[in-house]
Amino acid sequence: MSLESFEASVERSNAIKADFALHPQNYRMLTGDRPTGRLHLGHYFGSIKNRVYLQDLGVQTNILIADYQVITDRDTTEHIQDNVYNMVLDYLAAGVDPEKTTIYVHSQIPACNQLMLPFLSLVSEAELLRNPTVKAEQEASGHELTGLLLTYPVHQACDILFCKANIVPVGKDQLPHIELTRLIARKFNNRYGKVFPEPEGILSDAIEIPGLDGRKMSKSYGNSIMLGASAEETEKLIKKSQTDAERKIYYDKENRPGVSALLTTASLCSGVSVEDIADEIGEAGSGALKAYVIRAVNTFLEPHRQRRNELSKDMDYIKDVIHDGNNRARKVADETLNEVLEAMGMVY
Ligand code: TRP
Repeated sequence: MSLESFEASVERSNAIKADFALHPQNYRMLTGDRPTGRLHLGHYFGSIKNRVYLQDLGVQTNILIADYQVITDRDTTEHIQDNVYNMVLDYLAAGVDPEKTTIYVHSQIPACNQLMLPFLSLVSEAELLRNPTVKAEQEASGHELTGLLLTYPVHQACDILFCKANIVPVGKDQLPHIELTRLIARKFNNRYGKVFPEPEGILSDAIEIPGLDGRKMSKSYGNSIMLGASAEETEKLIKKSQTDAERKIYYDKENRPGVSALLTTASLCSGVSVEDIADEIGEAGSGALKAYVIRAVNTFLEPHRQRRNELSKDMDYIKDVIHDGNNRARKVADETLNEVLEAMGMVY
């Protein structure tokens, strides 16, 4: 994606953010996660918190669990059911209200997946090969470039367009997929008549949530604080995080990634600024900082854990939430597919 179009996306994203509170009814949000593991604090501060905020403002909210995307760069679906159930537990514990928000799993929505056929006809091989995120994912995973890895951004366009979402909160890495979705919507509308909106990517304010080692918080780095971890597990993880021997605690992302990540984590969880936390610890060293972080994280996560525990006693309810979301999504997808087929004259 060019710098110019990136800047244009940021500008549009900011203008829309300012309008959310004024005209929530004008927006339909869709966003989603791959069920490759458990959700962590990075997911919470990077996106889930914002989803709940939009939901409570009155924006129409949809959360997609992208199970087919799990096999874009891995050869197994091991644990997928468990991961899906646990994601829903975390969503609900974090404040997602299944009455207001449609939570669904895209493998269960045939009409959404069928959009893949006409959509594939709207993109060229060159456009697919150019996608920087696909390239990065392929390199990071070492997986071969399968047909699905190459074309999953088109499938993501199906996820977004089947419900005619006009806003998609995403991280920067997902912007190329939003660009492609806009292109597909535009081309379809030009060729067959207007069916789809051109959705906007909404960039999250939380720039990047550091993991305990200062790198981006990611399941694959083993540096993540899981929302569902116990207080003891969380304490252990924070205790063994890498810091340094300097007694004075201050923020320096470049030279002290471990200390700085701990400060940011404590700040996000406690609402106290990084500077105030550093001042409070002063010359007391990493041990004191870790004790502060453990307290901040565990205090913050305690109510989440309690709700999660409560919810997990009734897994039938969790399944009902998914089934109900799937039913709602199927209805919407069937309507959109009918419109698409009608626009294309494929009515017999
Ligand atoms: N690709 C996203 C991720 O890896 C998940 C996803 C799938 C998604 N379909 C989507 C996000 C549609 C936003 C909109 O996190």
